[in-house]
Amino acid sequence: MKRSGGSDEAKRRAGEAAADRVTDGQVVGLGTGSTAAHAVRALGRAVDAGLDVRGIPTSVASRELAREAGVPLTTLADARPDVAIDGADEIAASDAGFDLVKGGGAAHAREKYVDSAADELLVVADPTKLAATLAGPVPVEVLPDARPVVADAVGALGGEPTLRAAERKDGPVVTDNGNLVLDCAFEGIDDPAGLAADLSAIPGVVEHGLFVGLADAVVVGREEGVEVRESGG
Ligand code: 5RP
Repeated sequence: MKRSGGSDEAKRRAGEAAADRVTDGQVVGLGTGSTAAHAVRALGRAVDAGLDVRGIPTSVASRELAREAGVPLTTLADARPDVAIDGADEIAASDAGFDLVKGGGAAHAREKYVDSAADELLVVADPTKLAATLAGPVPVEVLPDARPVVADAVGALGGEPTLRAAERKDGPVVTDNGNLVLDCAFEGIDDPAGLAADLSAIPGVVEHGLFVGLADAVVVGREEGVEVRESGG
């Protein structure tokens, strides 16, 4: 899966602007990835300065970062997020508001249920993430034993699945949940909601990276400032 080539400065502006919207007493879903990491670090600095927040991490990586940054943590067993701040690999405006492809960090299963549980989802991004329509590939987390049959089913939907390989380990990426990831290429994603429903219906699929209509706002960091796009959906 290709990760963003956007500038770290743009990501930092986006992450910090989203963290600035968090208010005293809130519970915050802590997204995964290099852009969301800026928000987590900014929240840590705000906590140092006296802000009372608790975070719910979406991955082992965001939990470790939150600990390092000094953001107190809680879980979905004890709280629900008022707001979640998360990154994305692709963002397209749609009738539903915004549609996203996520899962570049293979964290999309936890990201989806934490982001969905939040009253508000703020997506943080650099401008390279904005697209007229989603193109994919769509990451699909699968139970390891189910990989061959999920791959067949993705093929029947017109997709081409590729097992995600680890970069500094031999073999495949293993998710925080002990599963594998198929990056599924499609010839255009004309109907994200339809494809999302089809992928969710495949036995053995744990979660896919299409987030349809979940985002309330997209905070885009630019070299010269920050643009906030609110969902019209
Ligand atoms: C992790 C994700 C990330 O939010 C997405 O890949 C964006 O990452 P980055 O901000 O590093 O470009 O979905 O599963």
